[in-house]
Amino acid sequence: MSESSVLQVNGLKTSFFMDKTEVPAVDHVDFDLKQGEIIAIVGESGCGKSVTSLSIMGLVPHPPGKVVGGEVFFNDEDLLKVSESKMRDIRGNEIAMIFQEPMTSLNPLFTIGNQITEAILIHRKWSKKQAKAKAIEYLKLVGLPRAEALMNEYPHQLSGGMRQRVMIAMAMVCEPKVLIADEPTTALDVTIQSQILALMKRLNQKLNTSIILITHDLGVVSEICERVIVMYAGKIVEEADVKTIFEHPEHPYTKGLIQSVPDIRNKKERLYSIPGNVPIPGSIKKGCRFADRCEFVMDRCREKTPELISIEGDHKVRCFLHQESEEQN
Ligand SMILES: Nc1ncnc2c1ncn2[C@@H]1O[C@H](COP(=O)(O)OP(=O)(O)O)[C@@H](O)[C@H]1O
Ligand code: SF4
Ligand SMILES: [Mg+2]
Repeated sequence: MSESSVLQVNGLKTSFFMDKTEVPAVDHVDFDLKQGEIIAIVGESGCGKSVTSLSIMGLVPHPPGKVVGGEVFFNDEDLLKVSESKMRDIRGNEIAMIFQEPMTSLNPLFTIGNQITEAILIHRKWSKKQAKAKAIEYLKLVGLPRAEALMNEYPHQLSGGMRQRVMIAMAMVCEPKVLIADEPTTALDVTIQSQILALMKRLNQKLNTSIILITHDLGVVSEICERVIVMYAGKIVEEADVKTIFEHPEHPYTKGLIQSVPDIRNKKERLYSIPGNVPIPGSIKKGCRFADRCEFVMDRCREKTPELISIEGDHKVRCFLHQESEEQN
C-alpha cells in the first residue's frame, strides 16, 4: 500500500448468484484513495457503483451477493479478511457511508438526537452528555439551524435536505478517515444539492476526510472532485483527474456521459443521451461491454476485452482506440 493511500482496492470482484448463474456486478475493479482526496465514481444506473461501495463496507446482501475476489486494504489490513465484529467497529467509525435515500437510513421512531448520540456511543466510550454535545456540534457544522431543538425532533418533521444533512452529520460525527457517499444529493433539488456538496468539501478540508462520491451525474463531480473513475457494466473504463475527464475524455462512454450533462449556463435542455442501455452484467460473454452502444466499434472490439491502460501519466483508458492492435506489434 503506497504511503499516502488510505484505501486501496485491488481486483475487486463481486457477483450475484441467480438460479446458479453468476452475475458479476463488479468485475476486477482497482483504485486507490489518497489521504484527504475526493474521488468520484460515475456511470449510469446499474454499472456497479453501489455494489463497489457495499463490497468495501462488507455490506453486500448475502445471498444472493458475494465478494468473490480481490483485496480492500485499509490501515494495512484487508477488509475482506477481517472478522465481522472488527468490521462493525470500522464501519461508521473509520469508514462511514451515506446512502441515497436518507429516510431509509433514519429510524422514524427515534429522535434525531437519539440516533446521532447512539451512533457516537457505539464507537466512543463517552458519557451521554459528551455525546449529546458532540451531536449538537456536528448538526451545527453541517449548517442546520436550531441544532439544540432539532435533537428532540423526529425525521418526518424535517425536509429532505435537512434529513440528508443529518445523515452527513451522523456519518461525520466519529470523524472517519473515509466517507463513502452514494448518490447523496440525487433526491434533492439543485440548490440544496450544491449546498450539500459544498458542505462535503468543507468537511473534507476541515477534517482531511477522504471521500468517495458516487454519482450518475457528472455535473455533481465537477463541483468538488479531484479525480474521476468512470465505471461501465462492472468495469472501470476510464480514470483521470477531473480536468482531463472534462476536457480530454478518451473513452467513447465518458464522451457520451459528458455530452449528456445539461449545460446549466446556457439554460439548455439535456441535448443528448447515449443510445441503448447498460447491459446486465454477465450477459456479454466476450469483447468490450460498450460495443453495442459505441459509434467507433471495430471487429476486434467484439472479440477481445480491452485492458485498462495508462495513456498519459495517471490517465487510464480501457478502449481499443487507444491500444496498438496485436497485428501491428
Ligand atoms: N440485491 C441484488 N440482487 C441481484 N443483483 C443485484 C443486486 N444489487 C445489484 N445487483 C446487480 O448489480 C448490478 C450493479 O448494481 P449497482 O451497483 O446497484 O449499480 P449502480 O449503483 O451503479 O446503479 C445491477 O445491474 C444488478 O445486476
Ligand atoms: S473498445 Fe471498441 S467498442 Fe469498446 S469503447 Fe473502444 S472502440 Fe468502442
Ligand atoms: Mg447505486
